[in-house]
Amino acid sequence: MKFSIPDFTRHKAERLPIVMVTAYDHPSARFAEQAGVDVILVGDSAANVVLGLDRTNAITMNTMVVLAAAARRGAPETLLVGDLPFLTFQACDEDAVRNAGRFVAEAGCDAVKLEGGRAMARRVRAITDAGIPVIGHVGLTPQSATQLGGMRMQARTHESALALIDDARILQDAGAVAIVLEAIPAPIAAAVTTRLDIPTIGIGAGAACDGQVLVYHDLLGLGAGTPPSFVRRYAALGEATRDALAHYAADVRERRYPSADETYRMSATELAAFEQDLAARG
Ligand code: KIV
Repeated sequence: MKFSIPDFTRHKAERLPIVMVTAYDHPSARFAEQAGVDVILVGDSAANVVLGLDRTNAITMNTMVVLAAAARRGAPETLLVGDLPFLTFQACDEDAVRNAGRFVAEAGCDAVKLEGGRAMARRVRAITDAGIPVIGHVGLTPQSATQLGGMRMQARTHESALALIDDARILQDAGAVAIVLEAIPAPIAAAVTTRLDIPTIGIGAGAACDGQVLVYHDLLGLGAGTPPSFVRRYAALGEATRDALAHYAADVRERRYPSADETYRMSATELAAFEQDLAARG
């Protein structure tokens, strides 16, 4: 049965872990749905893993809508979350509602995610009041990585850890249905998790979170470079893909591909008539 918005709090109450994975196109979303994940996030990490950009800030709303719509076609039955990209929600409530609405109306998303703590609480409230469920995201928020000192663990000091707990609570009070906790120490994630009524979904935040999310390309070994230390690689599809393509290239060059079985045939009668006609043409 499809995981739905009320299932976020039900899973938390029943201590059922929530499984979230990113996906960015038709095949990745189809595989995620076939695997039975609860929630698919069309993350702005698409900037890095799909578009080859060096920061998430460079992806646009139009691109995100195209990717989310493809993911929806691949996973028609799974709760789909669109990740609001940089500067599509920070400036004002109107931007936030309009762009969240685009994910719903143009791509078929069920919910949106946005980065930021208490400063974004009004945006969460505005989008929620427009009827669109919102997932918050605190800790390492890549859209503001420069301000945070780079792509590094957050909540390193007791003051910043306490501030993060307050941020999470404020987002909950503003109407968030869940909160992603990225790259923070496990004890801080555990403290947030026990203090919220809504679930936490961790990425690099330890085992005490109510759910986990990983980037598709990281967990399948499809990404370029070394993934963060918290990633568990469940497959080596990058190597498998490269080997398969090299095999194909060698087969073409050695004329091993295509074989007779991989070639369209014609009826012997038609072929004979064709050869006769061709010869008659000279
Ligand atoms: O964009 C993304 O993939 C994300 C996850 C890391 C939570 O925001």
